[in-house]
Amino acid sequence: MLRISIIGAGYVGLSTAVCFASRGYRVITSTQKEENVRNLNAGRAPFYEPGLDEALTRSIESKHLHAEISRAKAVSGTDLSFITVATPDQVDGTIDLSYIISASEDIGRALREKKAYHVVIVKSTVTPGTTRDVVKRALEETSDLVAGRDFGLCMNPEFLRQGSAIEDTLHPERVVIGQYDERSGNVLEELLVDFYEHPVPILKMGLESAEMVKYASNSFLATKISYANEMANVCERVPGVDVSKVMAGVGLDHRITPQFLNAGAGFGGSCLPKDVKALCKFAEACGYNALLLRAVLAINDAQVRRVVQLALKILGKPEGKKVALLGLAFKPNTDDLREAPSLKIAKALITAGVNVSAFDPVVKKIALPEFDALECADSIWACLVGAHCCVVVTEWEQFKVLTPDDFINHMARPAVVDARRIFDPRQFRERLTFIAVGLGNDFV
Ligand code: UGA
Repeated sequence: MLRISIIGAGYVGLSTAVCFASRGYRVITSTQKEENVRNLNAGRAPFYEPGLDEALTRSIESKHLHAEISRAKAVSGTDLSFITVATPDQVDGTIDLSYIISASEDIGRALREKKAYHVVIVKSTVTPGTTRDVVKRALEETSDLVAGRDFGLCMNPEFLRQGSAIEDTLHPERVVIGQYDERSGNVLEELLVDFYEHPVPILKMGLESAEMVKYASNSFLATKISYANEMANVCERVPGVDVSKVMAGVGLDHRITPQFLNAGAGFGGSCLPKDVKALCKFAEACGYNALLLRAVLAINDAQVRRVVQLALKILGKPEGKKVALLGLAFKPNTDDLREAPSLKIAKALITAGVNVSAFDPVVKKIALPEFDALECADSIWACLVGAHCCVVVTEWEQFKVLTPDDFINHMARPAVVDARRIFDPRQFRERLTFIAVGLGNDFV
C-alpha cells in the first residue's frame, strides 16, 4: 500500500488524512505549528468539524496516522505527498501563493535526499498555471530533479464542504486528476480507485484544466446563490410572492437542480468569496473582464446591506435599541467566521448605533478588537432578552424549532428578520412583525 504524506492540516488536509488512514493507509500529516501537532496526535482537531475528532482519534490510536512538524520526514517516509496548504487572498483579491511556494520548496529539498520515485499532488485551490509555473519550478530548483522523469506531479482539486467534510471526502461525486505526465496520473488514479469504496467518475486532464475546474465549480455555486438573491430582491417587491416557493419551482427542472438556490444573507466562508475574487483577478490579468463574476460579488455584498436595511426599518431610531443575531458561523456545522455575513451585519448595525447581541451554538467569542462592542450571549434566551429585532443569520437546527411565542416571551418588541428562510411566514406573520428575505411584504 502506498504511504501518504499530507502537507497542511486545514479542512482539506485533515479530512484527506483521516479518510486515507480510515481505509488502512499509513499517513503522515505535517503542520508547522507545534501546538497543532501536539493536539492532532492527541486526537484533537484545531477546528470544529462534525465527526472529525472521533475519526482523528481512531486513526491516531490505530497508528495509521501521525502528525509531524518536519516536512522532510513526512516526505522521506512516504511515496506520495498532497499539498493542502492555504491559498488566502491578498488585499486586492489576488491569490497569495506564499504557503504553496514554501511547501513546494520543502518537499523539493526532501526529494533531493530521497532516492525512490515520489508523486507530488497539489490539492490546494490554485489559479491555472500555478502547478506548472510555481510548484514544478520550486520542486525542480530545490531538488535538482526533473518532473515527469524523476518525480511525478499532479493537480487534484478538492470539492468537500465544511460541515460535511468527512462524508464528502469519502463519497465525492467526481474526481478530477490533472496530470503533468501519464505516469503521475496513473499512480494517483490507481491510489484513488483503491481508496474509494464505490465507483466514482474520474476525469483526467491537463494541470491547468484541473485547476480551472475548481474555480469554475465554486464560481457556478456562487452564481446560483447570487441569482437566487437577485430573484429574492425582485420577489420582495411583489406582494404575495415568496422566493422559496419560486426557487422550489425553478429547481425541479433537472437542468437547474434545487441545490444552492436558497436566497439569504449571501455566501461567506473561506472558499466561495475568495475563489470568485481570485478568478476575477486572474481573468483580468489574462486581459478579460469577468462581468458575470463581478455581478455575483456585487449582489453578494448588497445582500448583507439588504438584511441590515430590513433590521433598521424595523427598529426605526437605532439609538438605545438592541438587535439579537441568531448565528455567527458562515454556515451551520462549522465554527468558521471567515467572510461570515454575521460579522458584516453586526458591524453595520453597531456603526448605526445599535446594541448587538449574538448567539451561536459553536462560536462563543470573537477575538477581534473591532468586535469588542458585539456581545456574545451564552444562550438563545440571553440573546433575545430585551431585543427590538432578531435577525436569523445562520440556519442552525437549534433555531429552526423556535416558535413565535419564544420571541414574544423574550423580546422587548417581537420582530424577526428571517435572513435564512427557516420559519413559516404564515405562522409568524400572524403573531409578530416578520420580514423574510425574498418574501413580498410592506417593508421594501
Ligand atoms: C464550498 C463548496 O460548496 C465546496 O464544494 C468547495 O469544495 C469548498 O467551497 C471549497 O472550495 O473548499 P463551503 O465553503 O464549505 O464549500 O460552503 P458552502 O456549503 O458552499 O456554503 C458557502 C456559503 O454559501 C455559505 O455562507 C452558505 O450559507 C451560502 N449558501 C449556500 C447560500 O447562501 N445559499 C445556498 O443555497 C447555499
